Amino acid sequence: MRTNESLLAERNKHIPQGPFNTHPIFVERAKGAIITDVEGNEYIDFTGGIGVINVGHCSEEVTEAIKNQIEKYIHTAFHVVMYEPYVELAKRLNAITPGHFPKKTMFVNSGAEGIENGVKVARHATARPAIIAFEDAFHGRTLLAMSLTSKMKPYKFGFGPYAPEIYRMPFAYCYRCAFGLEYPSCEIYCAYYLKDFFNTHIAAEQVAALIVEPVLGEGGFVVPPKEYFKVLYKICQENGIIFIADEVQTGFGRTAKMFAMEHYEVDPDIIVMAKSIAGGLPLSAITGRGELMDHPQVGGLGGTFGGNPVACRAALAVLKMFEKENLLSKAEKIGKMVLERFNRFKENYPIVGDVRGLGAMIGMELVVDRKTKEPATAFTRRLVQVCREKGLLMISAGTHSNIIRSLMPLVISEKHLEKGLSIIEEGLSELEKKRDF
Ligand SMILES: Cc1ncc(COP(=O)(O)O)c(C=O)c1O
Repeated sequence: MRTNESLLAERNKHIPQGPFNTHPIFVERAKGAIITDVEGNEYIDFTGGIGVINVGHCSEEVTEAIKNQIEKYIHTAFHVVMYEPYVELAKRLNAITPGHFPKKTMFVNSGAEGIENGVKVARHATARPAIIAFEDAFHGRTLLAMSLTSKMKPYKFGFGPYAPEIYRMPFAYCYRCAFGLEYPSCEIYCAYYLKDFFNTHIAAEQVAALIVEPVLGEGGFVVPPKEYFKVLYKICQENGIIFIADEVQTGFGRTAKMFAMEHYEVDPDIIVMAKSIAGGLPLSAITGRGELMDHPQVGGLGGTFGGNPVACRAALAVLKMFEKENLLSKAEKIGKMVLERFNRFKENYPIVGDVRGLGAMIGMELVVDRKTKEPATAFTRRLVQVCREKGLLMISAGTHSNIIRSLMPLVISEKHLEKGLSIIEEGLSELEKKRDF
């Protein structure tokens, strides 16, 4: 009989340890916000396959679109024989991404590949080498994306040398302000610091792009103050620097707007999307100002699988679902419920140091001591494990892996959402009593 344990033994025998696994279970099927493992155990999914399943597992719209497309053709390579789904999706994304200026879109396969291409475009268009990225940022695992990523272990350790010409600024992480300041009396010093950065780290004339997540994803669901991006964007504009928004995790409705940058009223020059864009199929999009996107020469951008027609059809179905099922207002509702419960946890459990969020992207930072803010890494690991044993799947985030994040499908029922939150509370309560981590 197939059990989680027997499959895990096979996995360990045939697959290296590098590709990590959070939960020692194997899926049999998944629907909506529920995952059933090979032993028939059901779990409420607060992970959405790391932010990929905003429209829910195996939604009818997406599976229908996939089935219809695979019966016609699966792959021709857009570079060899073109197809309509690629063009149709590009047109839709050009229309719905922030910014009322002419845009163009191209597709590749993963978040990391999207980031790589965003940087390629920016470097080509500016003929400048340098990129400014942020502390606690995560942009992927390919060489350039990994070099842009901040966290050393496990993402970068032992994989050097890294790509050159990357310069790193502190992010607006108010709970752990790098400058020891407090919002709002800080007057967003961390954003204006970019001007100083040009003197101390890299001259503005050498910077092609600044790349930033609107809300840190892997870095711990850190939400910057409202004015932050406007300041950064203005400084970029004054210096001919391209502003790239990495909306890989924030995008496609997670923050109750289609793109998180809409909350900040900033129109990025380039936006990179992936994860939830295609309901579970691998796809990423780079959308940018037309003149930038058209800068690289013919043949300078692309890839064999980029913009696979099945994935593009799935993405068009995802867009339809957002409209039909009003998923943005669902995200808002989910966010309110999660935020309220997490804030109550903060009142009742000293381990909860900070609660923050935007839309349905809510994070709860766990600390051993509220004064020292020592990250409660071991407690967080135990909490994730205990919750799984009680039927809830979660993943942590943060440079110290001490943040619980909410990435549940936006189609989750109120009943399952409530149940999942109650499981977290039970876990917190049990572990707080013991504190044996
Ligand atoms: C903000 C952000 N950028 C880029 C990536 C990389 O995406 P992928 O894993 O599809 O390469 C991720 C993945 O977690 C992400 O959260």
